[in-house]
Amino acid sequence: MILNEASIAQIKKKMARYPRNKSAVLPAITVAYRQVGHLNAEIYREISKIIDIPYVEVAEAASFYTMFPKEPVGKYLIQVCHNISCALLGADSLIGYLEEKLGIKKGETTPDNIFTLISVECLGSCTSAPMMQINDEFYENLTREKVDRILDELRKKA
Ligand code: FES
Repeated sequence: MILNEASIAQIKKKMARYPRNKSAVLPAITVAYRQVGHLNAEIYREISKIIDIPYVEVAEAASFYTMFPKEPVGKYLIQVCHNISCALLGADSLIGYLEEKLGIKKGETTPDNIFTLISVECLGSCTSAPMMQINDEFYENLTREKVDRILDELRKKA
């Protein structure tokens, strides 16, 4: 088993809030992600057993959301929006800058395992473009100077 007792208990508690088990799939996935840091087929199997729905329904729900990485990632998962508003305000250049600063390409993790960089579809913060999400936090109206500060702060915390 990958999921620990605490996660299983949390999932069961969340299930009790819904009339149908299937409705608990995203809360269950979130619990698993918070424990493990990413998702995989074994975790989908465990969730499907706990909430008693088909494996494929767990896998389908998980695969829809980029906020749930499907393989191990660094301590900080940087998701840069590359959709239209952010693209018009420099998302490509921002991604290039992050690649240069971190010494990695999109989809890669730094050798110290601190940062993983990906680009994603709209994160719903279009009026604050360009923007990125790092773990649970939004960073908006980005400039290169802001990116420098954010990365420095996160490196210190790591
Ligand atoms: S287009 Fe980037 S947040 Fe919507």
